[in-house]
Amino acid sequence: MAIGTSLLTITPAHPAFAAEVSGVDLTRPLDDTTFDRIALALDDYSVLVFHGQALSDEQQMAISERWGRPETTVRTLGGEDRLGAHIVDLSNTDAEGKLMGWDDRRMLYQSGNQLWHSDSSFKPVPAHSSALSARVIPPEGGETEFASMRVAYESLPEDLRRQVDGKIVVHSFGFSRSLIDPGIGTEIGRDYPPVRHALVRANPRNGRKSLYIGSHAWYIEGLGLDESRMLILKLLEHSVRPDRVYRHRWQVGDLVMWDNRCVLHRGRLWDSARHQRVMHRTTVAGDCPTADPAYL
Ligand code: OGA
Ligand code: MN
Repeated sequence: MAIGTSLLTITPAHPAFAAEVSGVDLTRPLDDTTFDRIALALDDYSVLVFHGQALSDEQQMAISERWGRPETTVRTLGGEDRLGAHIVDLSNTDAEGKLMGWDDRRMLYQSGNQLWHSDSSFKPVPAHSSALSARVIPPEGGETEFASMRVAYESLPEDLRRQVDGKIVVHSFGFSRSLIDPGIGTEIGRDYPPVRHALVRANPRNGRKSLYIGSHAWYIEGLGLDESRMLILKLLEHSVRPDRVYRHRWQVGDLVMWDNRCVLHRGRLWDSARHQRVMHRTTVAGDCPTADPAYL
């Protein structure tokens, strides 16, 4: 619809990436022109923030489905799959409505969200993008931070860039969870075998390259484990320098969409034993493995 399109405004939210989108009502079906502009903005900015969107789960699902097939939620201890197969329920209340603190084992999956990561990078075909909607927020803390892995790649010193170009990185859910709880890590590792990904990925529309690491990144093929770990940590440190991070302070009704192919994100702590936080996430599946099939 011409009117809807003309009101759409995209305002950068950080000097290097991330933008706020206004002038669109996401509770209504998006016309093709508006969708195309938003999709282009997601390819350009990697993180999009929409305020004042009181979405139902169905409406949130409908937006994500414009990009493609929804991902299936991972079965976890905390019941993050209780809203069905396609909505991740990030909430710190149990079935009786009681708050769960960080020492509660059912919060294990959510603790993992506090490590820099890209959603489901442990899957053979990892996520394209995620959309997170704030339903209840705590009075302080609980922000979500984003780091552009394009900016990270583009600002790599020459010697580091030579070390990453053309490499394969192995991501593993078992590995990342073993950092939080070794027992659980082993269990999860059985269900999710390690997967191979391109360490440097390019956006198919604009060609911009990005680093593909995060908490699930375990080792780099061709390097020893120690050397891999040191390189991955060095790359992470470079990527999440404070001036390269967009920190989102949530308001109820915000919807934030991010491109998992080229940003890392992490949740920040809040007082989970005292304050409720409810976020619903929909995730769009990617369309192919990331490593060049000829290379596999
Ligand atoms: C997620 C995630 C962090 C947060 O939804 O994928 O990592 O701040 N969330 O809730
Ligand atoms: Mn996440």
